[in-house]
Amino acid sequence: MNAFEFKNPTKIIFGEGEIKKLSDNIPANSKVLLAYGGGSIKKNGVYDQVIAATRNFEVTEFSGIEPNPHFETLMKAVELIRNKNIDFILAVGGGSVIDGCKFISAAVYYQGDEWDLVEKGLARKQEKVVPFGTVLTLPATGSEMNSGGVVTKVATQQKRTFGGPQYFPVFSILDPTVIQSLPKRQIANGVVDAFTHVMEQYLTYNHGGIIQDRMAESILQTLVEIGPAVMENPSDQNLAGNLMWSATMALNGFLRLGVPTDWSTHMIAHELTALYDIDHARTLAIIAPNLYKKLFEDKKDKLVQYGKRVWNIQGESDIEVAEKAIEKTIAFFHSLGIDTKLSDYTNNYENTGQIVYDRFKERNWMGLGERQKVGPELAKEIVEMSY
Ligand code: NZQ
Ligand code: ZN
Repeated sequence: MNAFEFKNPTKIIFGEGEIKKLSDNIPANSKVLLAYGGGSIKKNGVYDQVIAATRNFEVTEFSGIEPNPHFETLMKAVELIRNKNIDFILAVGGGSVIDGCKFISAAVYYQGDEWDLVEKGLARKQEKVVPFGTVLTLPATGSEMNSGGVVTKVATQQKRTFGGPQYFPVFSILDPTVIQSLPKRQIANGVVDAFTHVMEQYLTYNHGGIIQDRMAESILQTLVEIGPAVMENPSDQNLAGNLMWSATMALNGFLRLGVPTDWSTHMIAHELTALYDIDHARTLAIIAPNLYKKLFEDKKDKLVQYGKRVWNIQGESDIEVAEKAIEKTIAFFHSLGIDTKLSDYTNNYENTGQIVYDRFKERNWMGLGERQKVGPELAKEIVEMSY
């Protein structure tokens, strides 16, 4: 295991009916921006619970943060906060609303072109930020307990990541009953996103981090076990709670401690959302299996371990176990109703490999992944395998 330091300051408040605890967790006398998405919270009762629990605060609402949140939209919230001297943000939604609020948090006190916070990585250097808490409505991204975000600039079709230790939520409320109103498509997305987050921190090479491997495998197995069941029965509170906690645990920092990580599936996949507006999780399902195939030799030992421990594949040669493990992964995505080819989502895919190549080159992304091998050429080949 490699040396590491770890601090995750986010307070998690888990359980049915816990949204009422907002009143105790938002700092007293705060002027609050209540930020949410397209309105699902008004239909499922979450909005009413939030309003009831924040009645002692001065609350300004900002709605309309879209999936894959737009820089252009978020800047309107930044202006609102600046004009009204708001000093706390409450994000109520899925990863998009929470990520959007992380960006808003960074941008309010930044003087300059706010896109530089993302593109030039300046968010990490921003000293004064607006604190925020969250009420999670979609288990998927782990944004509720991590310090990263992803935003899209529509004007240039760029979807880019940013982060820094200042962007951990102060608290996040995880009430599993909120998922009852999720469309099946979004539950499936959540399962695949969380699954891939684990894989990005697990499917690398043998490193001796026994506890990290076992934790990763337990989350993967839990997702395999409960994912389809939650889709069938989202009102089962125990299943819903386990899905929520799996998704949070998949990307709250624990799995990466002392071990190599990959993240190249995500970085390639973001381009597919930027270009074609495909749901984040679906872009991962398109790229991940082909990336595993392309980097088969590098990842083989771990693929074998994954095949044996997560999928119970036994009694065959290592190569067969590793190959079957990839096939099982694809079949799992399909079983959730998630297509795994780019051409399933768009007819306009032919030039995608070249665009990804150009963008990687432009950003000087020459060596992503656990062995720093994934540069423009490999990214292009992986995308082309995914057509
Ligand atoms: O906008 P509303 O009306 O609320 O509807 C949303 C949205 O249309 C709906 N929804 C959310 N909760 C609901 C609900 N509908 C009914 N009932 C509920 N309880 O679901 C739709 C999708 O929401 P969104 O927030 O976009 O989904 P998700 O949580 O999957 O977030 C995706 C975003 O997070 C980023 C992705 O790239 C993408 O931009 N990610 C963030 C990460 C992070 N911060 O660590 C890591 C991830 O890898 C990911 O990149
Ligand atoms: Zn993801």
